Amino acid sequence: MNDINQLFTQHFGTSSNGDSSAFTVRAPGRVNLIGEHVDYNDGFVLPMALPLETRFRIRPRQDRTVDLYSTNFKERRQFSLDHIEKQETWIDYVQGVARELAGGSVALHGFEGVITSDVPVASGLSSSAAIEVASALAFTHLEKQPMSPVDVALLCQKAENTFVGVNSGIMDQMAVAACHANHALLIDCRSLELEQVPFQLTNHAIVVTDSGAPRELAASAYNERRAQCEEGLALLQKHLPQVASLRDVTLIDLARYGDSLPPLVLNRVKHVVEEIARTLRAVENLKQGNLTVFGQCMNESHESLAKLYEVTSPELDWLASWASKQPGVLGSRMTGAGFGGCTVTLIEKQHVEDFTQRLPQEYHTAMNRTARCWVTEPTEGAQVLD
Ligand code: GLA
Repeated sequence: MNDINQLFTQHFGTSSNGDSSAFTVRAPGRVNLIGEHVDYNDGFVLPMALPLETRFRIRPRQDRTVDLYSTNFKERRQFSLDHIEKQETWIDYVQGVARELAGGSVALHGFEGVITSDVPVASGLSSSAAIEVASALAFTHLEKQPMSPVDVALLCQKAENTFVGVNSGIMDQMAVAACHANHALLIDCRSLELEQVPFQLTNHAIVVTDSGAPRELAASAYNERRAQCEEGLALLQKHLPQVASLRDVTLIDLARYGDSLPPLVLNRVKHVVEEIARTLRAVENLKQGNLTVFGQCMNESHESLAKLYEVTSPELDWLASWASKQPGVLGSRMTGAGFGGCTVTLIEKQHVEDFTQRLPQEYHTAMNRTARCWVTEPTEGAQVLD
């Protein structure tokens, strides 16, 4: 990444106080290891933060203008905290967060500065959650009103749902705000209880692979899956009035009452119920150091997302299937919302180089697309730096 301090001076000059009031915030992208499409069903998810990140270098302004230069989009945009209106571009993430904060108890001041990011956009690695969480940290640090990671995540999710207009669950913002280095984060999406699960990759690595395929219809198909889960829940509640969400449904319940659901809805519900149980099994095995079973859970998760939830793509299926046949691979699956985007692969370190060298070429031959690989490890969540 370019030196953000230099970029800042280049675009905004140096103020008379020598920029002693300037500061930097960072917010990483995330990859979900397991627990897919269950956060909006009160389930358990297990993401980790990536070494890819968004940074803001900013200094306060006396007025109520936010003035930012994005190095990725190579453009400078402004908005007034008194007139927050959608611009249908990257600054909407900052505006959405500002609007949520302003609606709460935080008095806001303007700021100016530079945004850099190496989190790929529209690849399912939460580039939007990263910019939202970085924005929240920027505003609250400026006002000397720090918020807990859970509150930051909830606020940013609200901004995403209401201002940006994507009906996402809590996983992405929580992962970006609350992950720790060398740990995966087990999130109970019902209670929002967090558990840092040690995930020190001594002999293994996590390889994230971008399929380079556009995430077509991702937003509408995502909302459709949510609606199908709600339909399944409502039908099951006729028999099981005590059930508050799909989290409470068991496989025995499904064996008993599954017939009362349309077959497609039953498939969706089955994925959710099994994926929640699978995530807990994966976490137990991770805690016991049994990465082999953890990897098997990843493979099973992909299979279920392909067959029951139908959110994979030919590219994601190819990548997961190819990976699972390579030496040293313990497990591989699509990650995030699906319909394109990335896979995540757990692999022995000694095989990483061979894997990342052969993958792009074989993928291009098979699918005529360009893949990108990142060899990653669990990284610290969002922070204010000086
Ligand atoms: C997207 C959403 C998350 C989650 C995943 C699927 O990343 O933003 O809330 O639902 O899809 O697990």
